Amino acid sequence: MMRDASSDSVRNDAATGMDSDTPSAARRDDRRHVLHSWSAHGALAPVVVAGADGAYFRDEDGRRWLDFSSQLVNVNVGHQHPKLIAAIKAQAEALCTIAPYHANAATSEAARLIAEVAPGDLDRVFFTNGGAEAVENAIRMARLHTGRHKVLTAYRSYHGATAGAIAATGEPRRWPSEPGPPGFVKFWGPYPYRSAFHAGSAAEESERALAHLADTVMVEGPHSIAAILLEPVVGANGILVPPDGYLQGVRALCDAHGIVMIADEVMTGFGRCGEWFAVDRWKVVPDLITFAKGVNSGYVPLGGVVMNGAISDGFAERAYPGGLTYSGHPLACAAAVACIGICRDEGLVERARRLGDEVIAPALQAMQARHPSVGEVRGLGAFWAIELVRDRATREPLVPFNASGSDDAPMVEFAAACKRQGLWPFVVSNRMHIAPPLTIDEPALRDGLSIVDEALHVADRYCAG
Ligand SMILES: Cc1ncc(COP(=O)(O)O)c(C=O)c1O
Repeated sequence: MMRDASSDSVRNDAATGMDSDTPSAARRDDRRHVLHSWSAHGALAPVVVAGADGAYFRDEDGRRWLDFSSQLVNVNVGHQHPKLIAAIKAQAEALCTIAPYHANAATSEAARLIAEVAPGDLDRVFFTNGGAEAVENAIRMARLHTGRHKVLTAYRSYHGATAGAIAATGEPRRWPSEPGPPGFVKFWGPYPYRSAFHAGSAAEESERALAHLADTVMVEGPHSIAAILLEPVVGANGILVPPDGYLQGVRALCDAHGIVMIADEVMTGFGRCGEWFAVDRWKVVPDLITFAKGVNSGYVPLGGVVMNGAISDGFAERAYPGGLTYSGHPLACAAAVACIGICRDEGLVERARRLGDEVIAPALQAMQARHPSVGEVRGLGAFWAIELVRDRATREPLVPFNASGSDDAPMVEFAAACKRQGLWPFVVSNRMHIAPPLTIDEPALRDGLSIVDEALHVADRYCAG
């Protein structure tokens, strides 16, 4: 299980020692011809996936994996949902593709449904192929709307791998792409467990993080700031749930200075947090929301920006200076229509909240009580993190920041222990993230949590005392 030392991406290779002696054509061609995301191709041994169903996928050797990561936190309705497959097939029969200057039924309906579930007056959608392009376009819109250029983003954030989105990103995956485009300024967001503000409570963390953000705005010059772009619940960098009041404070700061508030809900949107959008939990209405992943559970690539009237009005007479050959792609949009329908019909948003409150939270709290390596558990809906430490008193992380090689061994061993029991984990830095499909049945969820509980003994061995 090796990975590019410069990346902090999910450990996504097999490391089970189960590779068969004679490689299949899929494995052989992959090894010879594919360069995978965030990986050194000479070091990767990917699982060759042959099929999937619900909360499980299976490899070409017939091994079944319980997907506790929804792949990259996108397969919200589970694998191979029959209604989603049927919708894609029907759309393929009717109209596979069409240029974005035409209208078509799938794109129109997807936009209407997204506007219906989006908060406040956000009711017009620009479609992209994924999350990074959504972020690029949201930044462009904010700059055009305000006539300003700076964008404030948080340390410990991920916004995508294209030029602007990676410059906006506040973690090590940005480093190899530096120097980036100008105009991106970083601030610290709230993280009560490792407060940058020496806060003693969630309320203090919120207050001090807001004061720090207000100071950053002041010294950067509010007249030059187009947008504050943030993940309402930080995803890949730790499932950091903001203390109550923080997002409301960011909204107020943006209002006070005419700054566009962009909520990057690429990972958190469409039910993951037990709300349609994470901002709903705090009743905050941003000016722009970026989305992707859960909008159609990743069955066909899709992302976008949903915007309020003040911003979309700016493009009523003047042309929006951005576009994509596949903006509003009918197959992807038909999948979004079906996916939003499934979420509604199966009550998946409420289900995520209930699974979080009634199954995941109590199980993780019990693990914290049992295992000295568990420093903190946190999350909401079907979106949780277990943060592992060497020492609970000092909170020293189980592995150092951006660890690689032997420094990373404890986490590699922990991930391997999960995999040996057939659980596909989302392990990043010194954390395991728990983000199963929202459709996972309760026995499977409980089984998976038991596997994690057992695997934590591996992490405990590295603890002080
Ligand atoms: C919050 C957030 N924004 C943007 C992105 C980038 O999305 P994509 O990989 O679809 O470009 C991600 C991907 O994980 C994300 O989590």
